[in-house]
Amino acid sequence: MTFQCEDKTILDDWLTVGPSSRLAGHSASDPYRTELLSREVLVWRDAKGQVAAREGEDSLTVQDAYGYLWICPSGKPGKPLFSFPEFSEAGRRIVDCDGIGVAVSGLRMVENFLDMGHFPYVHAHYLGEVPQTEVAAYEVSVDESADEIWATDCRFFQPKTSKSATTGLDVQYRYRVMQPMSAILYKTAFPRPGEMDAIGLFVQPHDEEHITAYCLLAYFDDTSSDTDLLAFQHTIFGQDKPILENQRPKRMPLQPGTEVPTRCDATSVAYRRWLTRRGTSYGAIR
Ligand SMILES: [Fe+2]
Repeated sequence: MTFQCEDKTILDDWLTVGPSSRLAGHSASDPYRTELLSREVLVWRDAKGQVAAREGEDSLTVQDAYGYLWICPSGKPGKPLFSFPEFSEAGRRIVDCDGIGVAVSGLRMVENFLDMGHFPYVHAHYLGEVPQTEVAAYEVSVDESADEIWATDCRFFQPKTSKSATTGLDVQYRYRVMQPMSAILYKTAFPRPGEMDAIGLFVQPHDEEHITAYCLLAYFDDTSSDTDLLAFQHTIFGQDKPILENQRPKRMPLQPGTEVPTRCDATSVAYRRWLTRRGTSYGAIR
Protein backbone atom coordinates (compact mmCIF):
# COMPACT_ATOMS: atom_id res chain seq x y z
CA MET A 1 0.00 0.00 0.00
CA THR A 2 1.44 3.31 -1.01
CA PHE A 3 -0.90 5.94 0.38
CA GLN A 4 1.04 9.10 1.11
CA CYS A 5 0.14 9.28 4.77
CA GLU A 6 2.16 8.25 7.77
CA ASP A 7 -0.62 9.00 10.20
CA LYS A 8 -1.87 5.63 11.48
CA THR A 9 -5.00 7.20 12.98
CA ILE A 10 -6.14 8.36 9.54
CA LEU A 11 -5.09 5.14 7.80
CA ASP A 12 -7.25 3.20 10.29
CA ASP A 13 -10.30 5.49 9.87
CA TRP A 14 -13.10 5.21 7.33
CA LEU A 15 -12.58 7.88 4.67
CA THR A 16 -15.20 8.67 2.10
CA VAL A 17 -14.46 8.70 -1.61
CA GLY A 18 -17.86 10.10 -2.55
CA PRO A 19 -21.52 9.17 -2.91
CA SER A 20 -22.37 5.58 -3.88
CA SER A 21 -24.17 7.01 -6.92
CA ARG A 22 -20.72 7.59 -8.45
CA LEU A 23 -20.59 3.87 -9.27
CA ALA A 24 -23.52 4.04 -11.68
CA GLY A 25 -22.39 3.13 -15.16
CA HIS A 26 -19.06 1.78 -13.90
CA SER A 27 -17.83 -1.80 -13.67
CA ALA A 28 -14.72 -3.78 -12.75
CA SER A 29 -13.35 -3.10 -16.24
CA ASP A 30 -14.27 0.58 -16.10
CA PRO A 31 -14.17 1.54 -12.42
CA TYR A 32 -14.91 4.89 -10.79
CA ARG A 33 -11.56 6.63 -10.30
CA THR A 34 -10.81 9.16 -7.62
CA GLU A 35 -8.00 10.31 -5.37
CA LEU A 36 -7.39 9.51 -1.71
CA LEU A 37 -4.28 10.38 0.31
CA SER A 38 -2.42 11.32 -2.90
CA ARG A 39 -3.15 8.00 -4.63
CA GLU A 40 -5.64 7.04 -7.30
CA VAL A 41 -8.23 4.60 -6.00
CA LEU A 42 -10.60 2.58 -8.18
CA VAL A 43 -14.06 1.58 -6.98
CA TRP A 44 -16.75 -0.58 -8.62
CA ARG A 45 -19.50 -3.09 -7.91
CA ASP A 46 -18.76 -6.74 -8.59
CA ALA A 47 -21.18 -9.14 -10.30
CA LYS A 48 -22.99 -9.70 -6.98
CA GLY A 49 -23.44 -5.97 -6.43
CA GLN A 50 -20.81 -5.84 -3.68
CA VAL A 51 -18.62 -2.78 -3.66
CA ALA A 52 -14.91 -3.41 -4.30
CA ALA A 53 -11.90 -1.11 -4.47
CA ARG A 54 -8.21 -1.13 -5.17
CA GLU A 55 -5.17 1.09 -5.18
CA GLY A 56 -2.61 -0.10 -7.72
CA GLU A 57 -2.64 -3.88 -7.37
CA ASP A 58 -3.77 -3.81 -3.74
CA SER A 59 -7.36 -4.58 -2.76
CA LEU A 60 -8.88 -2.11 -0.36
CA THR A 61 -11.33 -2.48 2.50
CA VAL A 62 -14.43 -0.63 1.36
CA GLN A 63 -18.09 -0.39 2.33
CA ASP A 64 -21.23 1.30 1.09
CA ALA A 65 -23.14 3.01 3.92
CA TYR A 66 -25.47 6.02 4.26
CA GLY A 67 -25.36 6.46 0.48
CA TYR A 68 -21.58 6.95 0.58
CA LEU A 69 -18.48 4.90 -0.18
CA TRP A 70 -16.04 4.43 2.71
CA ILE A 71 -12.48 3.12 2.48
CA CYS A 72 -10.28 2.10 5.38
CA PRO A 73 -6.83 2.70 3.85
CA SER A 74 -4.92 0.36 6.21
CA GLY A 75 -7.51 -2.40 5.90
CA LYS A 76 -7.46 -2.57 9.71
CA PRO A 77 -10.23 -0.26 10.90
CA GLY A 78 -9.76 1.08 14.42
CA LYS A 79 -13.52 0.83 14.92
CA PRO A 80 -16.65 0.12 12.89
CA LEU A 81 -18.04 2.94 10.77
CA PHE A 82 -19.91 5.43 12.97
CA SER A 83 -23.63 5.03 13.55
CA PHE A 84 -26.02 7.41 11.77
CA PRO A 85 -29.49 6.36 12.98
CA GLU A 86 -31.15 9.48 11.53
CA PHE A 87 -30.28 8.24 8.04
CA SER A 88 -32.94 5.52 8.26
CA GLU A 89 -35.36 7.23 10.64
CA ALA A 90 -38.96 7.36 9.40
CA GLY A 91 -40.17 10.81 8.36
CA ARG A 92 -36.78 12.16 7.37
CA ARG A 93 -35.83 13.05 3.84
CA ILE A 94 -32.38 12.11 2.67
CA VAL A 95 -30.86 14.60 0.26
CA ASP A 96 -27.34 14.16 -0.97
CA CYS A 97 -25.78 17.55 -1.70
CA ASP A 98 -22.65 15.94 -3.20
CA GLY A 99 -19.34 17.69 -2.69
CA ILE A 100 -17.30 20.75 -3.41
CA GLY A 101 -13.54 20.88 -3.81
CA VAL A 102 -11.75 23.06 -1.29
CA ALA A 103 -8.03 23.82 -1.17
CA VAL A 104 -7.70 23.37 2.57
CA SER A 105 -6.74 20.75 5.13
CA GLY A 106 -9.58 18.37 6.06
CA LEU A 107 -9.09 19.29 9.71
CA ARG A 108 -9.62 22.98 8.96
CA MET A 109 -12.80 22.10 7.06
CA VAL A 110 -14.24 20.19 10.01
CA GLU A 111 -13.20 22.86 12.49
CA ASN A 112 -14.99 25.50 10.41
CA PHE A 113 -18.11 23.31 10.36
CA LEU A 114 -18.02 23.25 14.18
CA ASP A 115 -17.57 26.99 14.59
CA MET A 116 -20.71 29.02 15.28
CA GLY A 117 -18.74 32.24 15.74
CA HIS A 118 -18.45 32.85 11.99
CA PHE A 119 -22.19 32.66 11.23
CA PRO A 120 -23.07 36.38 11.39
CA TYR A 121 -20.03 37.39 9.35
CA VAL A 122 -19.68 34.67 6.72
CA HIS A 123 -23.33 33.60 6.49
CA ALA A 124 -25.01 36.97 7.10
CA HIS A 125 -28.82 36.94 6.66
CA TYR A 126 -28.82 33.13 6.66
CA LEU A 127 -27.18 31.56 9.70
CA GLY A 128 -26.56 34.75 11.64
CA GLU A 129 -26.76 38.51 11.64
CA VAL A 130 -24.80 41.37 13.14
CA PRO A 131 -25.20 42.55 15.92
CA GLN A 132 -26.41 39.20 17.32
CA THR A 133 -22.92 37.75 17.26
CA GLU A 134 -22.53 36.28 20.71
CA VAL A 135 -22.06 32.53 21.02
CA ALA A 136 -23.77 31.50 24.27
CA ALA A 137 -21.96 29.03 26.54
CA TYR A 138 -22.58 25.38 25.75
CA GLU A 139 -21.36 21.94 26.79
CA VAL A 140 -18.54 20.01 25.13
CA SER A 141 -17.68 16.44 26.08
CA VAL A 142 -15.94 13.38 24.68
CA ASP A 143 -17.92 10.15 24.59
CA GLU A 144 -15.03 7.87 25.56
CA SER A 145 -16.71 4.60 24.54
CA ALA A 146 -17.36 5.75 20.97
CA ASP A 147 -14.40 8.17 20.93
CA GLU A 148 -16.62 10.95 19.61
CA ILE A 149 -16.85 14.63 20.52
CA TRP A 150 -20.27 16.08 21.39
CA ALA A 151 -21.11 19.75 21.73
CA THR A 152 -24.59 20.19 23.16
CA ASP A 153 -26.94 22.98 24.23
CA CYS A 154 -25.64 25.29 21.52
CA ARG A 155 -28.04 28.09 20.56
CA PHE A 156 -27.92 30.75 17.93
CA PHE A 157 -30.38 33.21 16.45
CA GLN A 158 -30.67 32.57 12.71
CA PRO A 159 -32.49 34.82 10.22
CA LYS A 160 -32.93 31.95 7.74
CA THR A 161 -31.86 28.61 9.15
CA SER A 162 -32.88 26.45 6.19
CA LYS A 163 -34.65 26.54 2.85
CA SER A 164 -38.09 26.12 4.46
CA ALA A 165 -37.56 28.84 7.11
CA THR A 166 -39.86 31.83 6.66
CA THR A 167 -38.88 33.74 9.81
CA GLY A 168 -35.86 34.06 12.09
CA LEU A 169 -35.51 31.39 14.75
CA ASP A 170 -33.58 30.81 17.95
CA VAL A 171 -32.01 27.59 16.72
CA GLN A 172 -30.69 24.78 18.91
CA TYR A 173 -27.53 23.09 17.71
CA ARG A 174 -25.71 19.92 18.58
CA TYR A 175 -22.43 18.85 17.00
CA ARG A 176 -20.95 15.42 16.84
CA VAL A 177 -17.45 14.57 15.58
CA MET A 178 -17.18 10.86 14.82
CA GLN A 179 -13.79 10.83 13.10
CA PRO A 180 -11.28 13.62 12.38
CA MET A 181 -12.87 14.08 8.94
CA SER A 182 -16.52 13.18 9.61
CA ALA A 183 -19.01 15.19 11.62
CA ILE A 184 -22.76 15.61 11.98
CA LEU A 185 -24.59 18.77 12.92
CA TYR A 186 -28.07 18.54 14.45
CA LYS A 187 -30.20 21.68 14.38
CA THR A 188 -33.81 22.62 15.08
CA ALA A 189 -36.01 21.52 12.19
CA PHE A 190 -37.89 24.63 11.11
CA PRO A 191 -41.15 22.82 10.18
CA ARG A 192 -40.96 20.67 13.37
CA PRO A 193 -39.35 22.69 16.16
CA GLY A 194 -39.37 19.68 18.54
CA GLU A 195 -37.14 17.70 16.16
CA MET A 196 -33.63 18.18 14.88
CA ASP A 197 -32.47 17.99 11.29
CA ALA A 198 -29.14 16.25 10.72
CA ILE A 199 -26.43 17.45 8.33
CA GLY A 200 -23.49 15.16 7.72
CA LEU A 201 -20.12 16.53 6.64
CA PHE A 202 -17.87 13.89 5.14
CA VAL A 203 -14.41 14.93 3.97
CA GLN A 204 -12.43 13.13 1.27
CA PRO A 205 -8.77 14.11 1.69
CA HIS A 206 -7.14 14.15 -1.75
CA ASP A 207 -3.99 15.25 0.04
CA GLU A 208 -3.13 17.26 3.13
CA GLU A 209 -4.25 20.55 1.61
CA HIS A 210 -6.94 19.55 -0.91
CA ILE A 211 -10.26 17.96 -0.09
CA THR A 212 -13.77 17.36 -1.32
CA ALA A 213 -16.33 18.23 1.35
CA TYR A 214 -19.58 16.27 0.96
CA CYS A 215 -22.81 17.16 2.63
CA LEU A 216 -25.73 14.82 3.34
CA LEU A 217 -29.06 16.01 4.74
CA ALA A 218 -31.48 13.97 6.85
CA TYR A 219 -34.23 16.58 7.08
CA PHE A 220 -37.79 17.03 8.25
CA ASP A 221 -39.01 19.12 5.35
CA ASP A 222 -42.05 18.25 3.28
CA THR A 223 -42.20 21.45 1.28
CA SER A 224 -38.82 22.25 -0.29
CA SER A 225 -37.69 20.51 -3.45
CA ASP A 226 -34.41 18.58 -3.50
CA THR A 227 -33.01 21.26 -5.79
CA ASP A 228 -33.96 23.99 -3.30
CA LEU A 229 -32.36 22.15 -0.38
CA LEU A 230 -29.26 21.51 -2.40
CA ALA A 231 -29.02 25.10 -3.62
CA PHE A 232 -29.33 26.41 -0.05
CA GLN A 233 -26.54 24.14 1.16
CA HIS A 234 -24.33 25.09 -1.78
CA THR A 235 -24.90 28.77 -1.00
CA ILE A 236 -23.67 28.19 2.57
CA PHE A 237 -20.69 26.08 1.48
CA GLY A 238 -19.88 28.57 -1.25
CA GLN A 239 -19.62 31.28 1.41
CA ASP A 240 -17.20 29.17 3.46
CA LYS A 241 -14.98 28.10 0.56
CA PRO A 242 -13.04 31.35 -0.06
CA ILE A 243 -12.62 31.92 3.68
CA LEU A 244 -11.21 28.43 4.11
CA GLU A 245 -8.94 28.72 1.11
CA ASN A 246 -7.50 31.99 2.38
CA GLN A 247 -6.59 30.61 5.79
CA ARG A 248 -2.86 30.60 6.48
CA PRO A 249 -1.28 28.27 7.25
CA LYS A 250 -3.35 25.82 5.20
CA ARG A 251 -2.67 23.06 7.71
CA MET A 252 -4.01 23.21 11.21
CA PRO A 253 -1.69 24.15 14.06
CA LEU A 254 -2.31 21.87 17.03
CA GLN A 255 0.16 23.37 19.44
CA PRO A 256 -1.62 24.88 22.46
CA GLY A 257 -1.75 28.64 22.28
CA THR A 258 -1.65 28.92 18.49
CA GLU A 259 -4.49 30.95 16.96
CA VAL A 260 -6.39 31.09 20.25
CA PRO A 261 -7.20 34.80 19.92
CA THR A 262 -9.19 34.18 16.73
CA ARG A 263 -10.38 30.68 17.56
CA CYS A 264 -11.60 30.78 21.12
CA ASP A 265 -14.51 28.50 20.35
CA ALA A 266 -14.86 25.68 22.90
CA THR A 267 -15.63 23.00 20.31
CA SER A 268 -12.61 24.05 18.32
CA VAL A 269 -10.40 23.75 21.39
CA ALA A 270 -11.89 20.33 22.21
CA TYR A 271 -11.40 19.19 18.61
CA ARG A 272 -7.74 20.21 18.57
CA ARG A 273 -7.11 18.54 21.96
CA TRP A 274 -8.85 15.37 20.82
CA LEU A 275 -6.76 15.28 17.62
CA THR A 276 -3.58 15.77 19.63
CA ARG A 277 -4.51 13.03 22.11
CA ARG A 278 -5.35 10.48 19.42
CA GLY A 279 -2.16 11.43 17.57
CA THR A 280 -3.81 12.69 14.38
CA SER A 281 -1.40 14.77 12.35
CA TYR A 282 -2.53 14.42 8.69
CA GLY A 283 -3.52 17.93 7.65
CA ALA A 284 -1.92 19.44 10.75
CA ILE A 285 1.40 21.20 11.18
CA ARG A 286 3.85 18.66 12.51
FE1 LIG B 1 -19.69 28.27 7.54
